[in-house]
Amino acid sequence: MSTINIAIDGYAGCGKSTLARDLAKALNFTFVDSGAMYRGLTHLVLHSETNMDDGGAISDLLKSNPSLEFADETNHLLLNGEDVEDSIRNDKRVANNVSTVAAIGVVRAYLKAVQQSLIEEKSVVMEGRDIGTVIMPNAELKLFVTADMEERVTRRFLQLQESGKELSRDEVRENLASRDHMDETRDIAPLKKADDAIVLDTTILNREEQLTAALGLYSDLSD
Ligand code: CDP
Repeated sequence: MSTINIAIDGYAGCGKSTLARDLAKALNFTFVDSGAMYRGLTHLVLHSETNMDDGGAISDLLKSNPSLEFADETNHLLLNGEDVEDSIRNDKRVANNVSTVAAIGVVRAYLKAVQQSLIEEKSVVMEGRDIGTVIMPNAELKLFVTADMEERVTRRFLQLQESGKELSRDEVRENLASRDHMDETRDIAPLKKADDAIVLDTTILNREEQLTAALGLYSDLSD
């Protein structure tokens, strides 16, 4: 059976996950949130008290082959079978350290293998930073999602507030900006628009409008 893959990349908090999830549901594809996997390994590093600057220790940690899966109904991330969704979304330490962990070569190699194994059998919508450039360079459709910083701050601020987190707008802005900077400037698989990706600016689009726009681009593929 032939499969179709959609890659969605972009800056922190610009609505990629929501769009990817909605698109996967509309097309009956598998949704893969690659950022959740980086957050999951960051949780593992923090909880095992591994020193992030010690490449050898990180390598040893990965030798235990940590499993990263998404629960069927909830899509929560399961790390070695344990639901770590709350920690990866709401623990400030995860948000503050994930871009450091994501810049480590062995971490990226490990997750590249996990992510590529998911595209062998099913059509997927995968979102992240290097999906169109490194993980699925042959994806049929590539989107690069952007939104103005203040709009991104508002979205993430409301999201965190809903889950009971007391973070100021300034703290949210600082986290998004520093992650973007680290993601764009790292040596391995930096955040970058693939040459053949289409830019989708969601600043003034609501959830339904961004889905409609993406579905339109998808149906253009068969024209
Ligand atoms: O949801 P949000 O845009 O805040 O971020 P995320 O998709 O959960 O990704 C969290 C972090 O993981 C990013 O800031 C990157 O440092 C890293 N990441 C990456 O390096 N490569 C990916 N394919 C996905 C995420």
